[in-house]
Amino acid sequence: MRRHRNIKTVLLQASPVSGELRLRSLTHVAGENKTSAVHKEFGCAFSVDVAECYFSPRLSHERMRIASMVEPNETVVNMFAGVGCFSIVIAKHANPAKVFSIDVNPAAMQLMQENIRLNMVYGKVIPLLGDSKEIINSRLQWVADRVLMPLPEKALEYLPCALSALKASGGWIHYYGLEHSTKTESPTEKVKLKVAEKLDALGVDFEVPFVRVVRSTGPNWFQLAVDVHVM
Ligand SMILES: C[S@@+](CC[C@H](N)C(=O)[O-])C[C@H]1O[C@@H](n2cnc3c(N)ncnc32)[C@H](O)[C@@H]1O
Repeated sequence: MRRHRNIKTVLLQASPVSGELRLRSLTHVAGENKTSAVHKEFGCAFSVDVAECYFSPRLSHERMRIASMVEPNETVVNMFAGVGCFSIVIAKHANPAKVFSIDVNPAAMQLMQENIRLNMVYGKVIPLLGDSKEIINSRLQWVADRVLMPLPEKALEYLPCALSALKASGGWIHYYGLEHSTKTESPTEKVKLKVAEKLDALGVDFEVPFVRVVRSTGPNWFQLAVDVHVM
């Protein structure tokens, strides 16, 4: 804090991210004892509370990568939207018709609404509180050009639901997975095989033009992004 004068609070992450809401325990180390802040990236501002919601600045490159793929007037469904980071970067940097943004955490939903105001993306980012499977089944079937699944722990289970949100003409699914890989294995090949096996079993016509390591999450553990084009 002496060297970096802009730092007001230091917190120690005291547990891994866990549970349905993907939260972590935090211990106050120095400075003001608070857990909320405003994070800025690519001209967007995100009000976050790291004790009550998931947030990671390490996904900023990935958020912009997805936004740069969105074509004008697309309908996007973000199945695990948190405080709205992916959705807001898309709304500000692409020109989508709508980004339906679902999260099951009421605290994340409240911050998402604040972030919609902060970034002036009313009517573009539509916040929806609840389980994404239930919301898609009840009101978002066959509407989307693109579906985001930024929750590796549930992505495989929720893949059939993501498919049901896509338009009958097809579209894109951005799948996020976690893989353990030894030095002789390729995490990108492992995740691609897992997704392909599931889609084959569901009888889907698809291709996977791109897979990347987003970040490492522990020794030999990797978070991966898989872009699936459904025909
Ligand atoms: C890893 S976070 C991703 C958050 C956000 N996309 C981001 O990059 O900041 C996963 C989010 O999914 C939410 N979640 C977990 N299960 C869910 C479900 N069944 N339906 C909707 N949201 C869910 C959690 O509350 C959490 O905010």
